[in-house]
Amino acid sequence: MLTESAPAKVNLYLHVTGRRADGYHLLDSLAVFGPAADALALAPAEDLSLALEGPFGESLAAEPDNLVLRAARALATAAGVPARAAITLTKRLPVASGIGGGSADAAAALRGLDRLWGLGLPESRLAVIAAPLGADIPVCIASRPARMQGVGEVLSAAPALPPCGLLLVNPGVALATPAVFRARTGGFTPPAELPAFWPDAAAMARGLAETRNDLEPPAIALCPVIAEVLAALRALPGCLLARMSGSGATCFALFPDAAMARAGAGMLPGAWWCEAGGLYDRAP
Ligand code: C5P
Repeated sequence: MLTESAPAKVNLYLHVTGRRADGYHLLDSLAVFGPAADALALAPAEDLSLALEGPFGESLAAEPDNLVLRAARALATAAGVPARAAITLTKRLPVASGIGGGSADAAAALRGLDRLWGLGLPESRLAVIAAPLGADIPVCIASRPARMQGVGEVLSAAPALPPCGLLLVNPGVALATPAVFRARTGGFTPPAELPAFWPDAAAMARGLAETRNDLEPPAIALCPVIAEVLAALRALPGCLLARMSGSGATCFALFPDAAMARAGAGMLPGAWWCEAGGLYDRAP
């Protein structure tokens, strides 16, 4: 049996830079990973199956269109092998919450099945196979900090990131990504200007303060509790920056270190889903 971790994707900023003729939006975003993750276990089997466990397992159905199963079938087709595996997904990330849980699961399935089936495909090939299934899957395959452009599939190096702490908070509301894009008003934002590196977390927060998440205002309009989460995060000791991730409703706060992020988590309402720690970076 193999295991793969599917860490949360956090958009430190997200600029909507344009719109394609097919309705998809052009983005400029800085994605980082952590400090919470789903887990996948993959075992040899006679056919393809998916079992769901974990605190958010029940909010997902193991239907044929589950992104993990679609990714598995896409990989089998592309590689010319039978789609055979028993996959167990332990769902610890809230569903439809702006931290790419479904994309992270699909990406982890592709990495795990590549190993289980002995394919040895490079990450770049897995990303091409996955791209039609979801704009966030390519960045989740590497699960390393990256700048995302195009509709999310054009990846380039992120600035070198300093040690920092990250706190993720979700107030328990699901937001559908297309609805948030539709609720957006106003024009487009140019791509961010980023340095080669940030020397420490405070410098990173000052740099990020020049950027924004263009989906935050429409998400707050649809789901006003997000504004309460952001206010609560900004009031925490040591909070350097608080912002919504992706299309929400999960928000993140940036701290000088993981211990301060964990201390902050303990001061928030118990009904909110909170995870705190450092950034995740998969070994190359
Ligand atoms: O990430 P995914 O491809 O699953 O996107 C879900 C939906 O979000 C899309 O169907 C589209 O409506 C919207 N979206 C978008 N522009 C992007 C990414 C997603 O409009 N770059």
